[in-house]
Amino acid sequence: MAQSPKTIGILTSGGDCAGLNAAIRAVVGRAVQGYGWRVLGIRHGTMGVLRRPIEFEALDLRISTVNILRLGGTILGTTNRGNPFAFPMSDGSVLDRSEEVIAGLRELGIDALIGIGGDGSFAILRRLAQQGDIKLVGIPKTIDNDVGATENSIGFHTAVMVATAALDRLQPTAASHDRVMILEVMGRDAGHIALAAGIAGGADVILIPEIAYSVDKVAADIEKIRQHGRNFALVVVAEAVKDRTGQPVQRQHSGGGITYGGIGHSLGDALARTTGAETRVTTLGHVQRGGQPTWSDRLIASAFGVHAVDLIAAGKYDRMVAWQNRAVVDVPLSEAVAAPQQVDPDGTLVRTARGLGISFGDG
Ligand code: F6P
Repeated sequence: MAQSPKTIGILTSGGDCAGLNAAIRAVVGRAVQGYGWRVLGIRHGTMGVLRRPIEFEALDLRISTVNILRLGGTILGTTNRGNPFAFPMSDGSVLDRSEEVIAGLRELGIDALIGIGGDGSFAILRRLAQQGDIKLVGIPKTIDNDVGATENSIGFHTAVMVATAALDRLQPTAASHDRVMILEVMGRDAGHIALAAGIAGGADVILIPEIAYSVDKVAADIEKIRQHGRNFALVVVAEAVKDRTGQPVQRQHSGGGITYGGIGHSLGDALARTTGAETRVTTLGHVQRGGQPTWSDRLIASAFGVHAVDLIAAGKYDRMVAWQNRAVVDVPLSEAVAAPQQVDPDGTLVRTARGLGISFGDG
């Protein structure tokens, strides 16, 4: 029989998304009511245990009184910068600060840690766990839905809902002005949001990084739509799609950090030139990460939170909770970080889209 922990830590790491608070609520509910444990919420991912005094708060059942089930973002705060193994210092150098994080976790006196993150965060947390002998369980979250070994990550459904709603609003204005409307969505190196929202929102063209396209083919497909008597079109493009020259379109932010962004405008200009159509571009950006979680993100987050605590109770560590075949299961964390889960170009959703006559700009 596994020895039951008394105190567990929880942190959120990487980009935020809708549903994180529902997972935190589920962890606290299960740990406190089910096992009588204490839960310490670490603030801003591993940054909270790098700072002195350590930034954390004790979480108890009172968190439910502030309605966090319905709340976007994360009450704990997060960061997608500050890898403790290569920490960016103010003088421009990078420093390995992993031992400081491990010392901080020891100082907290936690018996196990639940990390809510994506594949990048899991790779870092696993390394810390191995180095510091920390008992770790992972809960997958990311709007990109690219964590391996799980069909769904927290936040994906809400992002798709937002992108679909954007297409619902773009369609009437595209039709009114006879325009080609381009919607750029997030997803990092995977096209899951673009594909799902494109099908659900009635796109004519979906461009994703997993399928090579040409502007000329997209233009020809838009021309076909015209020949069938419709003078407008909806195009969804995933942010990591390369431009005409084969380069990713990225942006260096002042204050640090490079993200994808801008392929929509580059494509809009190229399509205006090749089709002669009037084009307009909408870049959805972080709207996809915020706001109330959908019912399904709340559901998955709740199931993940309860199962993560039950794993700790069973003494099962270095594992990630996952959604597979209509059930919550757990898999080795190594499987989750092995390779990012991209869109399968021969999978159900691509075949569905092609069956509907949606163009991927290929062939
Ligand atoms: O990984 C989630 C994500 O929203 C990606 O889809 C996007 O490329 C990136 O984070 C944006 O990062 P940031 O929050 O640093 O702008």
